[in-house]
Amino acid sequence: MGSSSVRRPEDLDVVRESYDRVADNYVEMIAATGLGDIRAQPWLRAAMDAFADAVAGRGPVLDVGCGPGTVTAYLVDRGVDASGVDLSPRMIEHARRLYPQCRFDVASATERTGLRTVAELRLPAAAPIGPVVVLVARREQ
Ligand SMILES: C[S@@+](CC[C@H](N)C(=O)[O-])C[C@H]1O[C@@H](n2cnc3c(N)ncnc32)[C@H](O)[C@@H]1O
Repeated sequence: MGSSSVRRPEDLDVVRESYDRVADNYVEMIAATGLGDIRAQPWLRAAMDAFADAVAGRGPVLDVGCGPGTVTAYLVDRGVDASGVDLSPRMIEHARRLYPQCRFDVASATERTGLRTVAELRLPAAAPIGPVVVLVARREQ
């Protein structure tokens, strides 16, 4: 595996532990508020549909920082060859439980894990998800 062009952030473990700690509450919150149901939110659905149309036929898509996998799963339903990675193992546990049909891996955007680092990716698009910005990038073939 080649060396990363992105230096490992000093606070990566702190960030991972923080998201691990809030993962259960985050999953409950997106279920309780309906934020986890993209189809129920016209503006969010429109953004996701526009993204899916924009990347159609451009190869696999990687949802970087996928959390519990809401966006990844929606894109897969739309026929996109999408998978997700997240720094937090607990988020990935939830994603795998909620969407067993999808592929999720624990990985940092700053590490080489068979993926290009985000810094090296030429992003075909970035999808803003309400208060959360989710980068969706083409995965290395
Ligand atoms: C606010 S959550 C959003 C989750 C999901 N994208 C969504 O819209 O529900 C941000 C996510 O980014 C992940 N994250 C933070 N830093 C990361 C990194 N360096 N690499 C991969 N994931 C990271 C966190 O673990 C967390 O799950």
